[in-house]
Amino acid sequence: MPHYTAIVGTRPNFIKLAPLYHVLTGHSETKLSVIHTGQHYDDNLSGLFFRELDLPTPSVQLTICSGDRLSQIEDLRQKLRSELTLLEPDLVIVFGDVNSTLAGAKASHDLGIPIAHVEAGLRSFDPSMPEESNRIETDRISDFHFITESAAFDNLLAERICEDNIHFVGNVMIDNLTNFTKSDDSEDYMLWTIHRPSNVDQRDDLMGVLSLLEESLRSYDVVWPMHPRTRKTLKSFGLWPILDQHVRLHIMEPLGHTEFTDLLANARIIVTDSGGIQEEACYFGVPCLTLRNNTERPVTIQVGANRLIMDNDLDLFRKELKRIQEEPTSWDLPELWDGQTSQRIVRILQEQIKLAH
Ligand code: UD1
Repeated sequence: MPHYTAIVGTRPNFIKLAPLYHVLTGHSETKLSVIHTGQHYDDNLSGLFFRELDLPTPSVQLTICSGDRLSQIEDLRQKLRSELTLLEPDLVIVFGDVNSTLAGAKASHDLGIPIAHVEAGLRSFDPSMPEESNRIETDRISDFHFITESAAFDNLLAERICEDNIHFVGNVMIDNLTNFTKSDDSEDYMLWTIHRPSNVDQRDDLMGVLSLLEESLRSYDVVWPMHPRTRKTLKSFGLWPILDQHVRLHIMEPLGHTEFTDLLANARIIVTDSGGIQEEACYFGVPCLTLRNNTERPVTIQVGANRLIMDNDLDLFRKELKRIQEEPTSWDLPELWDGQTSQRIVRILQEQIKLAH
């Protein structure tokens, strides 16, 4: 019986694991163990998702040091190596682009365990993003590259990844959404989520974000489930009192998957710097404005669902808000975002394992 180990550590990892976990455990001939790295530890970023998405208690629960990116990855890599030596899986599965993803891939590589990378090949071409380094380094040592959009195929080929190891399977995160129905009457609020270092770690950058927020509040109520990183820096830079002045602003703790999906599906506009939320907005037909200079998810732009607000430019932001108000917004869904991605991944893994035995 093949034994897979999934390594997860952050909120988006848990969301991507869920559909795959449920398809894999439906196969009686497969064993799946889960290692939680402890990168996200607050209940509303972690435990809540395990409960809501019906995920098992992890076989292994780690804690990690709170250091800079490299020390976090190195600390985790060593801990994961010990755990994987005990578990002896045939294959390790990692997701996305967070520090836990790369640490998991490195530990497996150290031990010669094959690696499957779910959501491989995405590139922002922005070397200042920690996620970009995590993506590139994880792909360099992975054996199975499961990709969500065709741009990832070209990116991987350009990095000399063997074509036979790239599998266009679609978007596993969308598998979670296909049973979800939008309510009939869409409400007139904007949904905000902002947490990237490029927007929240420096005072000036945060001030720029807040000027876009104030522009939004002229026309809309804004609902903002706030990431702990953002809350921390808003407070430490003394900017929190600015938020208190706005009655149309609704700040809340990070939400669970169902509650957040409900808010997202029914919003008028999404403003975000998250990767996954650009895709989820695209799926639900909600126009997205991304407060970044680039996106590793170009298909969302190509289909017309998403626009970048470069340098958080206020004039551009105003122009885009006006466009959304005036133009009809609808688009075709990207290829293979059909809720069947986990099935495809499992089929490919099972075939390869059979070939290997
Ligand atoms: C991480 C990922 C990012 C992903 C995001 C989703 C990396 C490099 N970044 O960013 O790609 O989009 O998760 O949420 O892996 N903190 C808490 N409670 C928690 C977790 C974190 O207070 O449960 C605090 C940490 O102490 C730290 C800050 O939030 O001060 C940042 O946490 P970290 O896990 O480093 O990265 P995220 O910003 O969450």
